[in-house]
Amino acid sequence: MTTDTQNKLMDGKATAQRVLDACAQKVQTIIAQTGKTPCLATVLVGNDPASATYVKMKGRRCEAVGMKSLRIELPAETTTEQLVQKISELAADLNINGILLQHPAPSHIDERAAFEAIGPDKDVDGVTATGLGQMWLGIAKFGSCTPAGIMTLLREYNVEISGKHAVVIGRSPILGKPMAAMLLDANATVTICHSRTTNLPDIVKQADIVIAAVGKPNFVQGDWIKPGAVIMDAGYNEGNVGDVDFDAAFPHASLITPVPGGVGPMTIATLIDQTADAAANQWGVNL
Ligand SMILES: NC(=O)c1ccc[n+]([C@@H]2O[C@H](COP(=O)([O-])OP(=O)(O)OC[C@H]3O[C@@H](n4cnc5c(N)ncnc54)[C@H](OP(=O)(O)O)[C@@H]3O)[C@@H](O)[C@H]2O)c1
Repeated sequence: MTTDTQNKLMDGKATAQRVLDACAQKVQTIIAQTGKTPCLATVLVGNDPASATYVKMKGRRCEAVGMKSLRIELPAETTTEQLVQKISELAADLNINGILLQHPAPSHIDERAAFEAIGPDKDVDGVTATGLGQMWLGIAKFGSCTPAGIMTLLREYNVEISGKHAVVIGRSPILGKPMAAMLLDANATVTICHSRTTNLPDIVKQADIVIAAVGKPNFVQGDWIKPGAVIMDAGYNEGNVGDVDFDAAFPHASLITPVPGGVGPMTIATLIDQTADAAANQWGVNL
C-alpha cells in the first residue's frame, strides 16, 4: 500500500480499538466504584446466520472490555407480544444496562413496538422514538451506533463539518435519519436523499461529505464524487462490499472508509462504549 493510499484511508479498525481501550478503563472505574459489572443484553429473533454472527461479535467485544453480555435467542416464530414481554423483562432488570434488538427482526414482528419496549435509559443503539427525537434536538444520551461511529471517525480524522455540505443517501430510522440529525447538529448543511430522489448524481457531486447508507453494492459511482470529498461508506452487502464503488471513488476522495474495516468496527465499539456510559448513568458513577 502506498503512502498516498494510507493517507486517504480512514482506519475504522484502529479507531474502534482506541474507543474500546478507553471503554475498558471506564468499565474498570465502574466496577471499582460499584462492585458491579456493566452488562449488555442482545436479543436475536430467528436464525439468520449473519445476524447470529453480529450478535456473537458484540458479546465478544463486551468481554474484551471487561463487560458482561447476556445473549437472548428466540425462535423465528416468536410473536411481537412475546418479544415485547421479553424485552420489558430485560428493561426492568437492574443488572442489565443496555439492550440491543438485532435488526432486522423477522417480518411478522412489529419492530417499532419491540424497540419501544427497550425504553430510553437502556436504548444504547438509539432506536426508540425518544432516542431519535433527542438526536434531532441535539440532546441525545446515546446516538444510533452506526452514525455515532461515523461522527467519531470524522472527528478522529479532523474532518471539518461546520459549514460543509453533507449528502446522506438513505433515510432509515437507524442510519440515514440519525446521521442527518448528527451532521446538522455539527453545523453541516445536510441533504437527505432516498429512493425517490431525482438527479442523485448531481446532488452527490455537490457534497463535501458523502454518507452512503443505501444497502446496494457499489451504488455510488466514482464520477459522482467531487474532488476532495470525504466518503463514508456505511454499506455492508454480501461479499464484504460497500455501497460505494471504492476503486472508482478513491482517486477523487480526500478521505474514504474501506469496507470492511471502516464504519463497521466503529458501530460495535460505539455500542459497547454507550453501554458503559449507560451503566455509569444508571449506577451514579461519574466517569
Ligand atoms: N456498518 C454497520 O455497522 C451497519 C449498520 C447498519 C446498516 N449497515 C448497512 O448500511 C446500509 C443501509 O442500511 P439501512 O438499515 O439504513 O437500510 P434500509 O433500511 O434498507 O434503508 C436504505 C435506504 O436507502 C434508500 N435507497 C434505496 N435505493 C435507493 C436509490 N436507488 N437511491 C437513493 N436511495 C435509495 C432507501 O430509500 P427509501 O426510504 O425511499 O426506501 C432507504 O432510505 C446496508 O448496506 C446495511 O447493511 C451497516
